[in-house]
Amino acid sequence: MTDIMNAIKSAAIKINKAIKTEDTSKAESENSSGDVQVKLDIISDEIIENEFKKVSAIKEIVSEEKEDVTPMHENGDYLIAYDPLDGSSLIDVNLSVGSIFGIYKDEYSGPTIVAAAYVVYGPRVELVIARDVVELYRLDEEKNEFIFQKELSLGEKGKIVGPGGTQKEWYSYHKEMIDKFFADGYRLRYSGGMVPDLHQILLKGGGLFAYPGANDKPKGKLRKLFEVFPFAYVYNRAGGLAIDGKDDLLELGIDHIHDTTPCFFGSDYEIKRVLKTYAKVEK
Ligand code: AHG
Ligand code: MN
Ligand code: MN
Repeated sequence: MTDIMNAIKSAAIKINKAIKTEDTSKAESENSSGDVQVKLDIISDEIIENEFKKVSAIKEIVSEEKEDVTPMHENGDYLIAYDPLDGSSLIDVNLSVGSIFGIYKDEYSGPTIVAAAYVVYGPRVELVIARDVVELYRLDEEKNEFIFQKELSLGEKGKIVGPGGTQKEWYSYHKEMIDKFFADGYRLRYSGGMVPDLHQILLKGGGLFAYPGANDKPKGKLRKLFEVFPFAYVYNRAGGLAIDGKDDLLELGIDHIHDTTPCFFGSDYEIKRVLKTYAKVEK
C-alpha cells in the first residue's frame, strides 16, 4: 500500500506540472460516459498509468477515461479505479480540479474498497489519504514532497450545502429539502468540481454535498467506482456518512464499471435529514 501511495504522490506532482504548462483545450474525443475530454484528461490518465505500472502490488487498473480495465501484475493484490482529472471542464476558467483513487481488493464494489485518496490542484496541492484514519498532506513545491499536516474528521453538523444537478430537473421532495437547508441558514458552496466541493466540507468539519437522481438523470451523474465509492470511504473514515438517499453507498455493488448513482455526502445531522426525506420515496 505504501508503494501505491508513493505512486499517487509522484503522479500528482507530474499532473500538477502538466496543468500549469500544457494546452488546456478540448481533445477531439469523448470518454465512456460521453463527456468531452480535454487534452489534460488524457495526459493525466497516462501519467497515472505509467506510475502504477511500476508497482507490483497492483493487479489491474481502470480509469474513468477508458472503456475497460488494464491488467498490470498478475500476482498483485489490489485493483485501482481512478478519475485522473475530475472537474476538467473547470480548467479553462482556472478553478480547482482533482484526481480521485479507489483501491479495491478482489472486485470493484462498495464493500471491497480498502483505501481511498484524492488530490486537490488548487492554490496549493493537497493530498488526502483514507485508510484507518483520514490524513491531509500538502505539497512542498520546492522539495517536491508531500508534508503531513493533520488528521481530518467531521463534526456533527455544518453550515454549507453543495447541491449538484440541474435544479429544473430535481424531484419536488429534493428541492423542498434543499430549500429547507437554505431557509435554516445554510450557505451555498458549489464550484462544479466534486473534489474541491467535498474537500471544503471535510476541512470545514461538516455540511452536505448532494448529486441526486433527477428527471433527466434518475441515476445521477457521478460514477460509483471513480468518484462515489472513494469519497464515501473518505467520509466514512472521517466520521461522516455517505448514502444514495436510503442506503450506505459502501453497501452497493456495480453492474458496469462506469455505473453512476445518486449520492449524498456529509456530516451526521445533514445526512439524517436526507434519510428522512428519502425514506418516503421508492427506490
Ligand atoms: P469530470 O470532470 O470527471 O467529468 O467530473 C465532474 C463531476 C464532478 O466533479 C462535479 O461535482 C460534477 O461533475 C458537476 O456536475 P454538474 O455540472 O452537473 O453540476
Ligand atoms: Mn469526475
Ligand atoms: Mn474526470
